[in-house]
Amino acid sequence: MAFNLLTNFNHFQRHRNGLPACITILLCLGAASLSADNAAPRERVSFNDGWRFIKADPDGAGAALSYARLKDWLLPASAELSANPALLARTRPAGNPGETVAYAQPGFNDSQWRLLNLPHDWGIEGPFDQANPGETGKLPWWGVAWYRKHLELPAGDAGRRIFLEVDGAMSYASVWVNGQFAGGWPYGYASWRVDVTPFVKSGADNVIAIRLDNPQQSSRWYPGGGIYRNVWLVKTAPVGVAHWGTAVTTPAVDKKSATVKIKVSVDNSTAAEAAVSVKNEIFELKADGSRGKSVGLMPAGELKVPAHQSAGSEAQTELKSPKMWSMTDPRRYAVVTTVEQNGQAMDVYETPFGIRTIEFTVDKGFFLNGQHVKLNGVCDHHDLGALGSALNMRALERQLEILKEFGVNAIRTSHNPPAPELLDLCDRMGLVVMDEAFDCWASGKNKYDYHVLYPDWHEQDLRALVRRDRNHPCVVLWSSGNEVPDQDKPAGPALAEEHRSIIHSEDPTRPVTAAVSSYRAGFSGFQKHFDVFGWNYKPDNYGKFRGTNESIPLFGSETSSTVSSRGEYFFPVPALPTGKNRKEALADFQVSSYDFFVPGWATTPDTEFRGQEANPFVAGEFVWTGFDYLGEPTPYNADTSNLLNFSDPAEKAKMQQQLAALGKIKVPSRSSYFGIVDLAGFKKDRFYLYQAHWRPELPMAHILPHWNWPDRVGQVTPVFVYTSGDSAELFLNGKSLGLKKKEQYEYRLRWEDVVYQPGELKVVAYKNGKKWATDTVKTTGAPAKLLLSADRSKIAADGKDLSFITVTVADQDGLPVPRSKNHLRFALDGPGEIVATDNGDATSFESFQSPERNAYNGLALVIVRAKPGQPGSFKLTATADGLAGAAVTVKGD
Ligand code: GAL
Repeated sequence: MAFNLLTNFNHFQRHRNGLPACITILLCLGAASLSADNAAPRERVSFNDGWRFIKADPDGAGAALSYARLKDWLLPASAELSANPALLARTRPAGNPGETVAYAQPGFNDSQWRLLNLPHDWGIEGPFDQANPGETGKLPWWGVAWYRKHLELPAGDAGRRIFLEVDGAMSYASVWVNGQFAGGWPYGYASWRVDVTPFVKSGADNVIAIRLDNPQQSSRWYPGGGIYRNVWLVKTAPVGVAHWGTAVTTPAVDKKSATVKIKVSVDNSTAAEAAVSVKNEIFELKADGSRGKSVGLMPAGELKVPAHQSAGSEAQTELKSPKMWSMTDPRRYAVVTTVEQNGQAMDVYETPFGIRTIEFTVDKGFFLNGQHVKLNGVCDHHDLGALGSALNMRALERQLEILKEFGVNAIRTSHNPPAPELLDLCDRMGLVVMDEAFDCWASGKNKYDYHVLYPDWHEQDLRALVRRDRNHPCVVLWSSGNEVPDQDKPAGPALAEEHRSIIHSEDPTRPVTAAVSSYRAGFSGFQKHFDVFGWNYKPDNYGKFRGTNESIPLFGSETSSTVSSRGEYFFPVPALPTGKNRKEALADFQVSSYDFFVPGWATTPDTEFRGQEANPFVAGEFVWTGFDYLGEPTPYNADTSNLLNFSDPAEKAKMQQQLAALGKIKVPSRSSYFGIVDLAGFKKDRFYLYQAHWRPELPMAHILPHWNWPDRVGQVTPVFVYTSGDSAELFLNGKSLGLKKKEQYEYRLRWEDVVYQPGELKVVAYKNGKKWATDTVKTTGAPAKLLLSADRSKIAADGKDLSFITVTVADQDGLPVPRSKNHLRFALDGPGEIVATDNGDATSFESFQSPERNAYNGLALVIVRAKPGQPGSFKLTATADGLAGAAVTVKGD
């Protein structure tokens, strides 16, 4: 429990056990001995820059530093996030694991190691290797690596508490400070902190060494490797707000007023009782997150925090005419908590929050602020395409912008806790979030996945997730897991119930769900252990669920899983609707973009739309997936396949020979085909299918396929139109091919017998009898030139902000040439850098860091940034043999 005194008491006791005598003395400094200097309020600064890195495991230290050994030290340090008596009783053993390991020692000379800034993903630099598993992206993300950094602490820091806060490190992190083992955390998606106070020296240089250890066979997708999220250095007075120690709730809200309640947990690490007063003031937050005007003061609470313990304080106030957090106007506030002792501020701590009501109902689905909202959601993994798993705020923001453009209003953080920045962005951008903890519980899906950690860590990992994220207005659902194998096991219900109670003890205000894939688990009793039931891929069973489970709200926690490759179309196209796994969709390790191929468990978007519409009590859906991601290249998962995958007879013959020689075909696929948007962020046709349905008020029409089929003159070449209109007329070279109308549960218009002639396809869409939108596709000439366009021509010169530059291969008239695969070269002039390049091709082994790459179906992407602290304009030039090149200028500010 957040405010359990016993828990926190034990936490401090345990920290003292096994520490050297001098450290005990340090902890024994009473509050009275604080000087004004070292009692300065909290500081939280980035600790990302200037790390030394090596991918190596020295001294054959493997066994000595194995998790099996280190967990005796790690578990006691995690107990502040536990109510489990067995864990609370554990104490840190004596001794110092790693004392013989050179890399952990402060005196070690690391000057030959690579110098880099975090966030960092060592896997994304590759190289891609055919021999690596496609499931995890054919990239080398596993193994042991070390990071080291010096920390200079001023003498004035004596008596302060010093923490390292790590938003995420993949994985099995262990931390040494000045050669002493200080802590760590095994789950690679968790955020955690290490109290380094007992191990650092003020007025001196300190050395932090972090070891990561990624086991193979631990993930079903590309996890990345490294300290891939932000790291912070936090300094506080010995008395102050606990880690994630605030919980803001709004138990009563209407238009006129809102009750705002805050619970604050205060830590006292001194040997004397601390009498403190806790003040809370509410401010409006501006859209950029900065503080606006003060709007409310809560009555101060007086609190006595016993030595080496924590204590909780509560306060509440009424806010008149609250500005609600909504999807269209996501207003936020912040509570600023000040902890004072003897009239002196010991801590000042800001908690952003929002005022909104959420409700999942049995008969009508989801309500935000009393208004019905259908959840038009997507599931996404954490990688940022060519940037890998290394967090970048702008890359994440761009993903969300693209998702919003086709009507997404909800994100599922499949299948793990997200970067905290994702929630900040969703708070600011008005997207709601299903915040997920795990991909498995006690039974695993991979030999070394989370089930290995589950017995010892699930409680701490769940509490860490909820405490960290519970103040975000965007979070509307906690998900305790995805398709966990335990869903059909006898232990499943008890585990689900335990998770629900842990989560509710940290946050009683939001429902707990899970993404359940088993049909049986919808009726076996398992379903009763969730406040809201999430079902994966069951659009035809929603009615049956409701008939049996009258009191459990329902939503599609994972839907569709249609696969396609941008700009690929194969023939003949089977008449729709088709069965599953249609081979007509597959060629060249790509998948047809006519959007009908679905693996065995999946459905087309249309089938899910129908399931949702026919069952309006379903709260909505989360499509698998918004963006393509690294790994899991279904339907080309296996590294053997069959010859149907080849359309080119020469390629097929070559592969046939290989097949004979090796007994198998090598599959090059290394990223997914599930995305509505490709890995580079380019829109697939499906983008428009969803936009048409999810943004019915937006006039739009989209024709597919492209109209460059020199080998198909005179042959049937079906044309589909995705439109938010209700009917449309298609014209080929000015001649009408007829008007089609959407029937009930029909979401795409199809002209299945169009005979190809080069020229112009035009569609005119209508809504309620009125002209609504048009689209045109023309046969293009040969590639003649390159076009460049930057998503932002002015960016911050901080080394982090990015501009995403789209490269289009165009004909003489500037029309994008659909099948072009020209080899492109990029050069940058001025104070900027090319960070990565991509083209959305799931089979490309070109390095993401390469300044050259082929276009894929007419497009490529170049991601650039300004050099930190070097404002000024820089120019990106793109060239290709036989084509006119192009340049674009970006200003770093
Ligand atoms: C689901 C699973 C996802 C992904 C998806 C592909 O069953 O939850 O993680 O594997 O299938 O369709």
